[in-house]
Amino acid sequence: MKVVSVINQKGGVGKTTSTYNIAALLATDNKVLIIDSDSQASLTLMMGIDPLSMTDNLSSIYDGKNINNCIYASNIENLDYIPSNLSLAKIETKLMTMMLGREYQLKYSVEAIKKEYDYILIDCPPTLGLLTINALVASDYVIAPCETTPLSVYALDDLEETIKAVKGTNPKLKFLGVIATKYVSNSLSHNTSLNELKERFNVIGIIKNSVSSQKGIDDGLPCVVADPKSIVAEGYREVINKLKEEL
Ligand SMILES: Nc1ncnc2c1ncn2[C@@H]1O[C@H](COP(=O)(O)OP(=O)(O)O)[C@@H](O)[C@H]1O
Ligand SMILES: [Mg+2]
Repeated sequence: MKVVSVINQKGGVGKTTSTYNIAALLATDNKVLIIDSDSQASLTLMMGIDPLSMTDNLSSIYDGKNINNCIYASNIENLDYIPSNLSLAKIETKLMTMMLGREYQLKYSVEAIKKEYDYILIDCPPTLGLLTINALVASDYVIAPCETTPLSVYALDDLEETIKAVKGTNPKLKFLGVIATKYVSNSLSHNTSLNELKERFNVIGIIKNSVSSQKGIDDGLPCVVADPKSIVAEGYREVINKLKEEL
């Protein structure tokens, strides 16, 4: 089993979209679990689920509930999920007051289901707080979606620092690289940012800016399932081919 965190402390860069599309593609020949670790519950919503209806969710796990009781089957074969809802916002504060082991909480739970999945993907919140640290401590790999804009590229400095710091606790953690997202190929500024990303990081895929990323949203499906021929689906398939060399 491999655990992959999808992180970037900047919001709106395509973390949730990337998590869902990559997970759905991996689920074609693997058993996959996705964990929504953002209290805004975008992933849960993207899957067509009402977060408030899910009493057993990720915050229940942090409150001591058995992880097996918080896992649900999605509409996609071989793809399970742990939902999130607003109650997760309180968990961050709760973790801060813990004296011991606060960064290991998710890892302990995930280890209990190791044998049941080939991949676990964690959709992280747009912060580098304790929920993200828990995800990184539980992970083998990190992927960072990053918009091809100067501000997004700038945000990666802090991210690298955080990954370096977590390696003290979790030495096996590997930063696989960056997925360049929302790329506008005829924009000079996007191309400048893309070149900077390529110089500094392993760019494991380029996803163009396209409305096709929204395909499937009304049916709770990711674009790779709802519109497999779209440019965004094609981009995520390239990501998977690259990832399979590494994972
Ligand atoms: N390739 C893309 N082209 C255009 N819009 C995109 C693309 N990928 C994601 N989006 C949109 O950008 C917004 C933020 O994406 P999201 O995946 O929720 O980012 P994050 O999880 O980093 O906050 C959403 O409205 C999403 O539909
Ligand atoms: Mg998100």
